Amino acid sequence: MSETKVSLRGKKRTHNCGELRASDINKAVTLNGWVDRRRDLGGVIFIDLRDRYGKTQVVFAPQHNESVYQVAKQLRGEDVISVSGKVEHRPEGTTNQNLPTGEVEVLADDLVILNEAETPPFPIDSDIDTSEDLRLRYRYLDLRREPMQRNLTTRHKMAQVVRRYLDGLDFLEIETPFLMKSTPEGARDYLVPSRIHRGKFYALPQSPQTYKQILMVSGFDRYFQIVKCFRDEDLRADRQPEFTQIDIEMSFIQEEDIYKMAEGLVKTLFKEVKGIDIKTPLPRMSYDEAVTRYGSDKPDLRFGLPIEDVTETLRGSEFKVFESAIQSGSLVCGVNLPGQAGVSRKQIDELTELAKSCGAAGLVYFKVVGDSLESPTAKHFSAEQLKQLHEKFSANNGDLILLVTQPRGRIYQTLGLFRLELGKRFGLIDENQNALLWVTEFPLLEWSEDEKRFAAMHHPFTSPREEDVVNLDNGLKEYAEKKRWLSENSVNKARARAYDLVWNGNEIAGGSIRIFHPELQQKMFSCLGISKEEAEKKFGFLMEAFKYGAPPHGGIAFGFDRLVMLFTGSKSIRDVIAFPKTSSAMSLMDDAPNEVSRDQLIELHLKVI
Ligand code: AMO
Repeated sequence: MSETKVSLRGKKRTHNCGELRASDINKAVTLNGWVDRRRDLGGVIFIDLRDRYGKTQVVFAPQHNESVYQVAKQLRGEDVISVSGKVEHRPEGTTNQNLPTGEVEVLADDLVILNEAETPPFPIDSDIDTSEDLRLRYRYLDLRREPMQRNLTTRHKMAQVVRRYLDGLDFLEIETPFLMKSTPEGARDYLVPSRIHRGKFYALPQSPQTYKQILMVSGFDRYFQIVKCFRDEDLRADRQPEFTQIDIEMSFIQEEDIYKMAEGLVKTLFKEVKGIDIKTPLPRMSYDEAVTRYGSDKPDLRFGLPIEDVTETLRGSEFKVFESAIQSGSLVCGVNLPGQAGVSRKQIDELTELAKSCGAAGLVYFKVVGDSLESPTAKHFSAEQLKQLHEKFSANNGDLILLVTQPRGRIYQTLGLFRLELGKRFGLIDENQNALLWVTEFPLLEWSEDEKRFAAMHHPFTSPREEDVVNLDNGLKEYAEKKRWLSENSVNKARARAYDLVWNGNEIAGGSIRIFHPELQQKMFSCLGISKEEAEKKFGFLMEAFKYGAPPHGGIAFGFDRLVMLFTGSKSIRDVIAFPKTSSAMSLMDDAPNEVSRDQLIELHLKVI
């Protein structure tokens, strides 16, 4: 770096790089920013000067100012400069309609290089595909790119809308600790060893669940927090080990109050961020319907293709594959793909491969030709069965019915995945639609085949529906008799007062009405196989708090990163988080996680094995 070229002090900017318009022509201005692009056009140098607000064209002409032109010759992309000059109209035919500053340019008569930049590992000014690892390694450069600047700006705006909306409804923003006792959201904890208390650990919150409930016991009535949560789980495009929730809890409420508040929040975000009016109240669907009709507890309702169960219709046929499956308790279900009866043999093979990749063993098809169904397997079914099959799918001439058979426990997942893939492959998804819905009436518990016991589907503080408490009582009796949990135990029938908010097939929020009586909470723990002692050890503080007057309460948490991802049309939540982790939970920029010194380990009473 030459001493003479670089200065520590440029002139202070009078405008930002996205600000100048035709009305500023003839003004003397100073801009500060990064050299976005440099073009040398026969003795005149043009640069686009860039900052967060936009780009402005700056012209260095030797006939105007020779010495400034000489300095400009040394400029390279990403140098940081301060440039002063006069705003001029761009010459006839060179204006840029796509740029807000595209009518003007600044004719430079002073230039200070504040800092030189090395050649960046990837171009900042273009959308060319750069590997994500490289982008994450040089995140500070990646974040200079326009899409990332836009995403983080939208994220900021959304956070402000959320705060204003909730503040307007008397919610209080209250911080809760990061160093805490484990909360049971079902994922693995991130642990922090205690230096002072040998052999003891804090857990980072998987969510502030227990604290927000305690805040209700304390009478705060309406709480919210835009808060980091930490879960050591397998990562995907919509999952990060540390992510942000809009966490909310309310007292003296029922489900309807939560729906209204959350719908208002979503409506306000859509209006203020996207200018779109969302119709409320939002539609609701039971968990059962979501799973049996769309094969998912977060159905994408931008397109149809509902799943039909035709087990009973096809029972007793001569088609061995189906009949023996039905005899052994499996189901036959499928979807009707409109207008695709013209598929070739090769396309059928491809669809079969697709079905297999979704978990099916095979695929049976029927082409709808007028009122009849054509298929190599059609001869194995009675005319009446084919007629009913036609009716069941409300088939029209030219449709293609696709069927699979599998046990009840797996078929919906298979067809749910298959349906989504078909939707994508056949262009059935209307990208401009915003299909929002509540999924309600979740089961309270889910069976873990590995552990041979039940686990909470949402979390252990979620209240059963009042009419379903009897299922817990019956289940505990059955358990006492059999001395072990069985998947068909009565607790299996209990439904929860839980709800998820789904947008275009993404779970954007989830919550529940909570248990607020210690006895019911104890019952719930018993159903989860958590002993009195264990419950006392893990959640004694919450149970104790409930003894001192707990109001009925409930809440919800939005996945803030997911919301921003969807609002910005990003493919991954990594694109809306300033410093995300890779799918193997690494931070490539600062190289975390990292080894620590032996001394640090000793201080923490730890030994790496
Ligand atoms: P839940 O576990 O459903 O509920 O989480 C709420 C929402 O957080 C988002 N989310 C995630 N986003 C990114 N990365 C992750 N690893 C991740 N995990 C979850 C989802 C989800 O809908 N305490 C309860 C809320 C309550 O009952 O009030 C809870 O945390 O969008």
